[in-house]
Amino acid sequence: MLLQRTFWVVLVFITGLAAANVHPVESRPHRILLDTDVDTDDFFALLYMLKLNRSEFELEAITINANAWTDAGHAVNQIYDILYMMGRDDIAVGVGGEGGILEDGTMLPNVGGYLPLIEQGNSTAGGCRYRQAIPVGLGGKLDIDSNYGLRKGFLPQGSRKYSPLRQPTTQQVLIDKISAGPIAVIIIGAHTNFAIFLMNNPHLKKNIKHIYIMGGGVRSRNPTGCCTQNSGSSCQPRQCGDHGNLFTDYTSNPYAEFNIFGDPFAAYQVIHSGIPVTLVPLDATNTIPINEDFFKTFENSQHTYEAQYCFQSLKMARDTWFDDQFYTSYFMWDSFTSGVAVSSLRNLHNQNEENEFAEMEYMNITVVTSNEPYGIYDSSNPFFDGRRVPKFNLKKGGVHSGHVQTGLRDPFCIVQNGKGRCQDGFTKEVTGAEGVRVLVATRAKPNPDTSSELDRAYFKSFLDVLNHPQQTGRFNFTTQFPNYKEVYYKPDFGSKKQGKPVVFDMDMSAGDFVALFYLLKLPVEVINLKAIIVSPTGWANAATIDLVYDLLHMMGRDDIPVGLGDVFAVNQSDPIFSAVGDCRMCMLLEDTLAAAIWTREMC
Ligand SMILES: *[C@@H]1O[C@H](CO)[C@@H](O)[C@H](O)[C@H]1NC(C)=O
Ligand SMILES: *[C@@H]1O[C@H](CO)[C@@H](O)[C@H](O)[C@H]1NC(C)=O
Ligand SMILES: *[C@@H]1O[C@H](CO)[C@@H](O)[C@H](O)[C@H]1NC(C)=O
Ligand SMILES: *[C@@H]1O[C@H](CO)[C@@H](O)[C@H](O)[C@H]1NC(C)=O
Ligand SMILES: *[C@@H]1O[C@H](CO)[C@@H](O)[C@H](O)[C@H]1NC(C)=O
Repeated sequence: MLLQRTFWVVLVFITGLAAANVHPVESRPHRILLDTDVDTDDFFALLYMLKLNRSEFELEAITINANAWTDAGHAVNQIYDILYMMGRDDIAVGVGGEGGILEDGTMLPNVGGYLPLIEQGNSTAGGCRYRQAIPVGLGGKLDIDSNYGLRKGFLPQGSRKYSPLRQPTTQQVLIDKISAGPIAVIIIGAHTNFAIFLMNNPHLKKNIKHIYIMGGGVRSRNPTGCCTQNSGSSCQPRQCGDHGNLFTDYTSNPYAEFNIFGDPFAAYQVIHSGIPVTLVPLDATNTIPINEDFFKTFENSQHTYEAQYCFQSLKMARDTWFDDQFYTSYFMWDSFTSGVAVSSLRNLHNQNEENEFAEMEYMNITVVTSNEPYGIYDSSNPFFDGRRVPKFNLKKGGVHSGHVQTGLRDPFCIVQNGKGRCQDGFTKEVTGAEGVRVLVATRAKPNPDTSSELDRAYFKSFLDVLNHPQQTGRFNFTTQFPNYKEVYYKPDFGSKKQGKPVVFDMDMSAGDFVALFYLLKLPVEVINLKAIIVSPTGWANAATIDLVYDLLHMMGRDDIPVGLGDVFAVNQSDPIFSAVGDCRMCMLLEDTLAAAIWTREMC
């Protein structure tokens, strides 16, 4: 009897072992943190990750990069709404912060990431040397902030929204989530937030298992802006063959890609942090353009709200594209990166570096933060200029000590009749001690199913994942508010004699709203408000025009026309590419933050 029991115990023990060998120990999900600038392609990446099996991948937090394609207030609200639709109000969201960096390089807690490190002083006010490359209106921040006007009519609204003094900051969220245990970080915007975190919390580095980055171009050759045989002799090649993708700035910097250019010094900090890095640069993303076949297939497979939201956004991006080359110049950037990251995390367990979606290769790279010759102090570089000791103890005459690109048309960068020479933000291949060994995605893998319309493996995964019925959006705006109707309100003034016609030019800060209410409440016999002009060069940015529409609707005055003013102050827009320009009068604070501070001061 005793013998028999021992036998069973041994048997159970052996089968237990065997089972453990076949199914590796039930492991916990990969914890993931996403740092994003909430461009269209960014929320494609986000939704892809939210749809994955949560016992494999657990997205724990989202931090928002506020110095690139979106403004903090609009970005954070869109993220909250997306998470609400997906039933994921549990995911932490960090944005902004009022900290600064003191003259001596001391970083105060909660530096907001509104400015690249080189321009970050002790407040959230500062210049826009890199951000100038990003269009402000159409095709740029206005469209991205409002998601082409689609966000308000589609996404449902939950209880989370930006609220001053209560909003967790990016740095708080990074510290909380990274100190809680091993985590993978995916960065698909500029690197400011994460660099600040690493510089302030070196002891927490050990918890970061891996960093996945969409950014840069290593051996890339830009396929857009090339002349073809039938484009005629007058065709001037534009970005054709460049490493970078700064379509507004290639005459001064043909090397940089937007995410890295947003803050080259921060990207240097991240890539040189000693944490293992996988880079998904333009080398790979240039090989996965949104082609017509993918677009058509996507159009016919919108079985979830999240697929609908992505498709409608993509369609609007296509329909408003500045030329007829959408299908060859809009790529999967961040969404592709989320796929590469997920496939890589799956394979980390079995030490397999094969990636399902991309061909991978090790390269030694660095990030160019200043241009040679080093050590010339020409007042372009605040880390060195006028300082006895360089900021952050940087090395005199070292790689950070050259000329730093000051703006779009920096004369140092412009070469007569040639490509510009500035390399700020270039993810450059180097030999020797200067480089870091990084795993680089070099091209998107083809779809193994050659009979499919979809020619890339990731295209298929993206559509499958986005459309599967698990972990799906609970509702869109119409399902959440079934009784909501789009109504056009127009007052009936009958035979009232109308008073003085008035046009109101406002910039949408709190005081302006009070004034607008006042004008609307006055008897029409006294003041007849004929039109509103919204000026986006002051305290608010262009997408805040939505607030003016809402306010007029609430007051029953949908009849008052609203015009959006010029997005640049007089003579600030670029003479060559008018969608971008300088910002002498900078948009210092995000609208909502600004409004809150303004209100506090007034009360
Ligand atoms: C998610 O993964 C777990 C563990 O691998 C599995 O048991 C479960 O069925 C999966 N869920 C779905 C919806 O596929
Ligand atoms: C902030 O920096 C400016 C110069 O950049 C300086 O004049 C000011 O005194 C500083 N304020 C604080 C609180 O350190
Ligand atoms: C690349 O970097 C690694 C260390 O990071 C170094 O061992 C290797 O020699 C470098 N390769 C080249 C070609 O510089
Ligand atoms: C929202 O959901 C409703 C009901 O499922 C659907 O008819 C409608 O098309 C959706 N709205 C949008 C904007 O997709
Ligand atoms: C704007 O620039 C033009 C051309 O350089 C110049 O003639 C004009 O005076 C400038 N206007 C202002 C207000 O500075």
